Amino acid sequence: MLRFYTAGESHGKVLMGIIEGVPSGIALSEPDIDRELKRRQKGYGRGGRMKIESDHAEIVSGVRWGITTGAPIGLIIENRDWANWQRAMSADPAMSGSAPAVTRPRPGHADLPGALKYAQKDIRNILERASARETAMRVALGAVARKLLAEFGMRAGSFVFQIGAAAMEAADTTAMGASALAGLARKAESSPVGCPDEKTAEKMKSLIDEAAKAGDTLGGRFTVFVTGLPPGLGSHIQWDRRLEGRLAQALMSIQAIKAVEVGGGITLAARPGSEAMDEIFYSKSKAGKGFYRKTNRMGGIEGGMTNGEPLVAHAAMKPIPTLKKPLRSVDMETKKPFRAAYERSDACAVPAAAVIAEAMAALVCAGALLEKTGGDSLEETRRNYDAYIRYLAQF
Ligand SMILES: Cc1cc2nc3c(=O)[nH]c(=O)nc-3n(C[C@H](O)[C@H](O)[C@H](O)COP(=O)(O)O)c2cc1C
Repeated sequence: MLRFYTAGESHGKVLMGIIEGVPSGIALSEPDIDRELKRRQKGYGRGGRMKIESDHAEIVSGVRWGITTGAPIGLIIENRDWANWQRAMSADPAMSGSAPAVTRPRPGHADLPGALKYAQKDIRNILERASARETAMRVALGAVARKLLAEFGMRAGSFVFQIGAAAMEAADTTAMGASALAGLARKAESSPVGCPDEKTAEKMKSLIDEAAKAGDTLGGRFTVFVTGLPPGLGSHIQWDRRLEGRLAQALMSIQAIKAVEVGGGITLAARPGSEAMDEIFYSKSKAGKGFYRKTNRMGGIEGGMTNGEPLVAHAAMKPIPTLKKPLRSVDMETKKPFRAAYERSDACAVPAAAVIAEAMAALVCAGALLEKTGGDSLEETRRNYDAYIRYLAQF
């Protein structure tokens, strides 16, 4: 079983992560993780924080001489801003009162519900953990999952297809195979807004500029996918084993994500059934594949299990809630209305959210793969995986 945890505050000393269940024998080094962290930090419309933080993950356990040992893998990412927050974020009781309490909840954040739930008069005790800074560690843990997936030719990718009102035409993935998806993700990689279509990307950039100038922010939508998955990951037999549900939860858990669709998603609701499924074909010559589809309206999942086509989901991110244009709120202490004050913030973080979604999708798929194959070592996992693939070919 693959499981992972994160800990750490936005302005705390470090972010910590533990991932357990990774087989021994997988090559893993800090640059593998830093490469993904760098991708998360890119993107047009990011605020000051991205200039402060140049993330680096330190591997503190579970890896020896560049190879996983099977023990829990511990990761640490330092918060470079810590020097300025040592007193305000100290665990030492002698430091209490070193920073004024935050009493003004920002709409769209965990501030008010978190303060009420955890009985906190200082919102900092909530916002520090609710912040999307935590997703740096998710991306780091996702990089570990990606290394496992890569051993079996499985790859996660993404691209942004909408920011604000600028949307890419021909972003319909229901007719795309693995290579078309990978092609879009490759193009997206060199785009400052993560969009594979240059014309749309230009529009997105100018919308972000306009929004930033007006003190506003923008959300958007992106596609995330994993290719190379065999049929049969996940299960139909119990609600919490259905892969679709697990994927949706993983993506929805990313800060500011408000909708997730799989495959044709909401567009399927408007189609007749005869145009909404993926008909089944068989070809002996389709190297090891056998059964296959000519469309991917189901996004690679039927009955809570992968069906051998690419796993494809789309997510929608709400606009960043911290605006230069202040929103109305009420001070928790005085109960007086005020207009939420602006702090350093992003105008748009959709490209980063797409990278975080890749990490989450990779973690879900790596977990589902290990459930199917078992295996404490890479060798054993590969033996079991190869046997399953051989069995599928003979089915
Ligand atoms: C990559 C990323 C960066 C974000 N940056 C900011 C930011 O700079 N300022 C802000 O107010 N919210 C930012 N958010 C959004 C908040 O984290 C999120 O809206 C908040 O935690 C409330 O969570 P919820 O929207 O899931 O309810 C960001 C989200 C993501 C995924």
